[in-house]
Amino acid sequence: MIIDQTIGQKMDALREHLPTEQSLLLPLLHEMQAKEGWISAEAMKEAANYLKLPFARVQEVVSFYTMYNRKPIGKKHVQVCTNVACYLRGADKLVEGLEKRLGIHCGQTTADGKYTLNEVECLAACGTAPVMQINDDYYEQLDENVINSIMDKLDRELTHG
Ligand code: FES
Repeated sequence: MIIDQTIGQKMDALREHLPTEQSLLLPLLHEMQAKEGWISAEAMKEAANYLKLPFARVQEVVSFYTMYNRKPIGKKHVQVCTNVACYLRGADKLVEGLEKRLGIHCGQTTADGKYTLNEVECLAACGTAPVMQINDDYYEQLDENVINSIMDKLDRELTHG
């Protein structure tokens, strides 16, 4: 059971302000992902039962929004924007550098479970491109040196806790 008392209480509080059960789906999935790190088929079934929605509807929503992870992810989810503004400022080279550094391709997780790397669509910070998001933090005006120092810091954090 992913939907525990805390999540249930949050949904009850929201329910009062939302017109339909279906409107609770996005916040519910958000909470479930915050707890588990990703949305499994089991999680989708649980959400469908909880909101009394067809399973196919939940599946549709989870596959539509890229913010929902459909596979387990690493402790740090590195998402690099490769949309136009970031691409024009060398985001593809930054992705290549990260792939090399981590020894994985986009869409993969390192064997030690520390990092998952993904390319994403516009992160809505085009004025300070190129941009990446790691978990809930944004990093802007990136270049190779900036990325390396961010990653060095995260490596230290993950090693020393
Ligand atoms: S194109 Fe990268 S943030 Fe908009």
